[in-house]
Formats: sequence, structure tokens, C-alpha cells
Amino acid sequence: MNRNLALEFVRVTEMAAIASARLMGRGDEKAADQAAVDAMRAMLDSVECRATVVIGEGERDEAPMLYIGEQVGSGNGPELEIALDPLEGTTICAKGSPNAISVMAIGSKGNLLHAPDTYMNKIAVGPECSGVVDITLPPTENLKRIAEVKKCRVQDLTAIVLDRPRHEELINEIRDAGARIYLIGDGDVSAAISTANPNSGIDVLFGIGGAPEGVIAAAALRCVGGDFQGILQLKKADEIERARNMGISDPNKIYNIEDLAKGNVMFCATGVTDGSFLDGVRFKSWGATTHSIVMRSESGTIRHIRAEHHFDRKPRY
Ligand code: FBP
Repeated sequence: MNRNLALEFVRVTEMAAIASARLMGRGDEKAADQAAVDAMRAMLDSVECRATVVIGEGERDEAPMLYIGEQVGSGNGPELEIALDPLEGTTICAKGSPNAISVMAIGSKGNLLHAPDTYMNKIAVGPECSGVVDITLPPTENLKRIAEVKKCRVQDLTAIVLDRPRHEELINEIRDAGARIYLIGDGDVSAAISTANPNSGIDVLFGIGGAPEGVIAAAALRCVGGDFQGILQLKKADEIERARNMGISDPNKIYNIEDLAKGNVMFCATGVTDGSFLDGVRFKSWGATTHSIVMRSESGTIRHIRAEHHFDRKPRY
């Protein structure tokens, strides 16, 4: 994959972030998401590639744009797969809370898991703890392993968990183990990535969130050398059937990070609202500023891009 492509794709998340940030705090999740989708779809065709959306807004019959299987890009250039979320954290954006992002992971054909839109049990850690955790073990054991590697006590660790009733048992176990917990309302992609940032104060992500978000988070952690494991939560017969149609024959498979995002992958994200690793969009009299991150697994380079967008020279805005 041409390395310059990553810098082309960030223009796409920038535009989606600006479009949805206009609707920050307006209490309208659908409108914010739609604005991000429209902007992302419009920008994607300016990138020199032939790409297939493998994780998108839904299946063809439920999403008119950026649906799974949709062909995007200019139609020339490398054949790619894209996992995208134009607005990760629709509720966050609608409320004006932290950590809404516009995000894309890009791989060569066959490199990203075509995950069904179901739940996934996840564990994510930063590079220090890569190869140390095991999703099949109880959280208490994983916390002990992380503490050992980080040369601290379990009481010094912070786990990030989506605040959901389904996590009651998990939260109780983490508390019993003595670790601290950071409960979040939404946005487990940012949460997973925060485990790799030594300044975030977050050591591990535990719990069940969206499977598509799991693939995107795994791609990001591949770029920074972190670790991610996931197990799809396929309970009902129709979920198992849908997964089978997407090529998933073992509903209990334990996915390691390479199963989710293998080979060379690129990741880019732009902050919509302020967050732990990205600043949100700021509107100015002349336009807007954005803060994005662009990463490549091949080189491990992490670029922070702060951009000024002058709307008088960008007719769309
Ligand atoms: P949206 O951006 O689609 O609203 O997803 C937000 C999110 O919090 C994800 O980060 C997470 O994986 C998923 O929703 C959790 O799903 P649920 O809200 O059903 O628990």
C-alpha cells in the first residue's frame, strides 16, 4: 500500500468530522451521523484507489450509503478494504461529550475481518502488555498479569469499561480485584486506543461492544504495537446465520489482533469532540481547525495532523 494514501484518507475523516461537529450538542444523533456519512462518502471518491467497504453503516438493504460491499475510491489504483465509522460516538456528539471521532482503517484486500454487526467481547492493552493478556482468562488474572509487567499493584491499574447493565458482573469483579474503573457512556474505539497512550492513565479495556468497532480498534492497536482480542457474541440463530454468510463458521472463535487486522494496515481518525487523544473541531470566522492521527502498521509512524480549513476556498463548506 502506498504510504501517501494514509495522508489522502485523513482528508476524508477531516471532512466527516467537520460536518458532524456542526451538530455537536444539538441532541440529534441521526442528523450528526448523516452529516458525517454524506461528507465521508463525497470525499472518498477523491482518493486514488479501488476500495470495498467491509465495515460500514450496515448491510446494503439498511444503509443507502457506505454499506458493506459498496465500492468507493476513484476507481484507479490499489485494491483496498476499508473499515469505517464516519461518526464513532453518535450519542457523544449529540450530547457534546468527549471522545467522538471520525475513523477509518484501511487494509489490502483480505486483510480486515468482515465482522457482522453484532457484539464482541473485547480486551485491549498497550504495547507494554502485548502478548500478556488472554481474553479466555478471568479479568482478575489479566489484571494481575498487567500489574506484573507494569511493575505496579493491581490497585494502581485503571480499566476502562462501557457503562452498561450487561457489565455488572465484570465491573464487580474488577472492583473486587482492587483495580480502578473508568466507566464510559460510549466510544470503545477511543477507549481501546487510550490503553496504548501512556498519558491516558488507562491500562486495559474490558467488555462487550460492537464487533465492527472491534476491527477498527484492532487496526489502530496493530499500528502502535498494542494487543487486542475479541470473541463475537453470537447468541441467536439469525446472528449465527448472518455471521456464516459473512464467512464466519466458528461462532466461538477467539480472534487475536492479526485475525482482525492483518498485514499492512493504515488507520486515521479525526476528533469531532475533544477527547483523550484528539482535540475536537473548532469553528473560526474563516473556517475550522481539526486534529487527526494517521498511523501505519508497516512503519509504526504516528502522525498528528493539525489542519486549518479555510471555507472560502472549500466550496462545500
Ligand atoms: P455509535 O457511534 O454507533 O453510536 O456507537 C457507539 C458505541 O458506544 C461503540 O463505541 C460501542 O462499540 C457500541 O456503541 C456499544 O453498543 P451499545 O451502545 O449497544 O452498548
